[in-house]
Amino acid sequence: MKLIFSGTDRPGSNSLKVSKIIQEIYSNLGEVVKIVDLAELKLIKTMEQSRYGEALPTEIQETLALINQAEGLIIVCPEYNGSMPGILKWFIDHFKYPDAFEYRPVCFIGLGGMFGGLRAVEHLQQVFGYRNSFIFPERIFLINIFRTMKDGELTDLFSLDLLKKQAAGFQKFCLALQSQKLDAKSLLDSRLTK
Ligand SMILES: Cc1cc2nc3c(=O)[nH]c(=O)nc-3n(C[C@H](O)[C@H](O)[C@H](O)COP(=O)(O)O)c2cc1C
Repeated sequence: MKLIFSGTDRPGSNSLKVSKIIQEIYSNLGEVVKIVDLAELKLIKTMEQSRYGEALPTEIQETLALINQAEGLIIVCPEYNGSMPGILKWFIDHFKYPDAFEYRPVCFIGLGGMFGGLRAVEHLQQVFGYRNSFIFPERIFLINIFRTMKDGELTDLFSLDLLKKQAAGFQKFCLALQSQKLDAKSLLDSRLTK
């Protein structure tokens, strides 16, 4: 299963709305894709209660385990002050290395003002590139999201079309890697059966 990360825990977040639209697009492509909602995971409560390296709540541990088994990661990331939200980086810093990262297919959707989250996505590409993930080259930048998102619908039809093309492309990208057992899930599964 692929996972969609909604990259912030801000109440009323546009990232969550975009994530739901993307989930629907994958559903139309015949895939059940789960949303990882950082708000639902109550990460901020965990940050208050435990320091890095201390035991995490079961729900967060289960989600981290799901990442190690995911066919692909779809990261929806808003731009906060020229980068990704701190809460998303905090969460990524809990991904298991190398299992969660290496050879894991990842694709990015940015959202923000006039650059549509470009800087946030490029910072994420540095993180996942450094950790040897397979980065899908087609990125989407949803500009002026506060104007184009209305009642949970994306009124920018050009961008909606790009999201559909990206999903179809990422689906093929993951299948192509799986067919040669080059993706993280195939590699980890083969390690377990040896
Ligand atoms: C703390 C904060 C910082 C922001 N900084 C930027 C920024 O640097 N560049 C930008 O284009 N938009 C910026 N924005 C606008 C957001 O990208 C936009 O409001 C988007 O909807 C935020 O995603 P969210 O609704 O999922 O929180 C910022 C918004 C917040 C809340």
